Amino acid sequence: MMLPAPAGSPYRVSMVCLGNICRSPMAAAVLQRRVEDAGLGEHIRVDSGGTGSWHVGDAADPRARDALSRRGYDGRSHRARQVSPPWFDDHDLLLVMDDDNLRTMRRLAPDRDAAERVMLLRTFDPTAEPNGERSVPDPYYGDEADFDAGLDIIERCVDGLLPVLRARVEGSESDR
Ligand code: 4NP
Repeated sequence: MMLPAPAGSPYRVSMVCLGNICRSPMAAAVLQRRVEDAGLGEHIRVDSGGTGSWHVGDAADPRARDALSRRGYDGRSHRARQVSPPWFDDHDLLLVMDDDNLRTMRRLAPDRDAAERVMLLRTFDPTAEPNGERSVPDPYYGDEADFDAGLDIIERCVDGLLPVLRARVEGSESDR
């Protein structure tokens, strides 16, 4: 799996969902922690956004914050933002949670290069099966168990993503 080449350093990753209050803030918190634990904090930047505007400025959903804190992550500082075309200039890689996010982001992309920098997070799920589930399901209308299940998927995907990201930032000198 090859990731898009970095435009510079650090390599900038954004997690993207619909509301930017449930899935993408959880995914960003998990990746941020893994990046720091791997000593890559100088080389990889992590944030998140949503394709919808309803929750702009809001904190993460309390159920997302609770699910994060049950596993030792901290989502308290998050404030929701909506993605816009400049998002593509400001990031190297956009990781979306589902096919709806993928379509919206590809439509928003200013050009083909930008569109190709949008990928499904589950591309990196080490347990993914051909024709298996492609999304991190939206837990917004669900319950605590749905948030935990989402976090299970997110943690697995981040485990799959991190070595690829590390190779990308460590190999990037030779690409430029
Ligand atoms: P998220 O969940 O996309 O994982 O942040 C949602 C949050 C809010 C809404 C939908 C999904 N909403 O319709 O307000």
